[in-house]
Amino acid sequence: MSLTIPASVPTTEAATSATQKSNRELIEQAMRHSWFPVARSADLTPGGTPQPATLLGSQLVVYRDGQGRASVASRRCPHRGADLSLGKVHDASIGCPYHGWQYASGDGLCVRVPSIEDQSKIPPKAKLQVFPVEERYGLIWTALEEPIEPLYRLPEWEREEFTWLQADPLDSPVGVAVTVENFRDVAHFPFVHQVSMGPTPEVVEPLQVSREGSHVWMFRPLNAGTGEWAGDGDCEMQYHCVAPGLSSITYDYAKLGRRVVAGFPSPISFEHVKIFWGVANATEFTGAPIEENLRLEEMVYLEDIPIVENNHPREVPWDAEIEEFSAPADVFTLNYRRAFLDLARRTEETLRARDTAE
Ligand code: FES
Ligand SMILES: [Fe+2]
Repeated sequence: MSLTIPASVPTTEAATSATQKSNRELIEQAMRHSWFPVARSADLTPGGTPQPATLLGSQLVVYRDGQGRASVASRRCPHRGADLSLGKVHDASIGCPYHGWQYASGDGLCVRVPSIEDQSKIPPKAKLQVFPVEERYGLIWTALEEPIEPLYRLPEWEREEFTWLQADPLDSPVGVAVTVENFRDVAHFPFVHQVSMGPTPEVVEPLQVSREGSHVWMFRPLNAGTGEWAGDGDCEMQYHCVAPGLSSITYDYAKLGRRVVAGFPSPISFEHVKIFWGVANATEFTGAPIEENLRLEEMVYLEDIPIVENNHPREVPWDAEIEEFSAPADVFTLNYRRAFLDLARRTEETLRARDTAE
């Protein structure tokens, strides 16, 4: 039986939504309206050192004020452009390292100008650009523009309590989609993961993949070969990706319970990600300690990155400008691409509807 899979993702679905934008433009627009992580919760202590972050080229500062509230703001001080990540965090504001102006952690309004004797004379429009913040899965999330969808909440992680451990983020000079596709690809195991997984079959069985909107799922038994995971018994893996940037596996062991590994690549630019990733164990999980799971999953990541970082192009050719060929084992990838284009199209439609309503 022959199976025909398009050489690249169908381009008409998103491109015909009454717009002249290319798929890449729609994808980039969708990412600006999507949630991405910019820091780990554990790295931000109340009143502690602010952290720099870059999201799609925007220079950001991430900090937790003295009251414990996490904030994401533009890194550029609106007075004379100093770098606020070199500044000082106060009880409910961040202070600039240059002339000490302070901006409220909630709305970014300037609340103190040390050089003015009468603080009622602060320029009333002086304001730092701030961004929405969510804290979930041990990470600080933000969006550059009003998010189209709420931050991911996976039903399989809601059913019971999980403890998260976020790894040291990894730097990878490829895009979000290439990173997500690598995470859930199964045909590369026998070539890239011989050490962490041991010998695994080259032939990929027909994959059972389903998609709804931005979500893509696949269920597969764990074939741990003779590698580090051999001996943990029967396990079903639920692969669950959500466009643009969540890729996860929830492992359900017959005798141990459930654990998770998840990647959350955050785009520094279109072709460069900082991969936030972590592991989680259900409270009832009786397998290896969470630190051990992190160590094993890190082995897998460190095997992948030297291969993927040399991919060309560095991000999915959304407008089919470079020819690709696919095999049946790529069916999850193709569904993820459709999910991303689906999100891009819905983002465009939502923004158009908002424009019309205004
Ligand atoms: S540049 Fe920030 S206070 Fe002057
Ligand atoms: Fe891999």
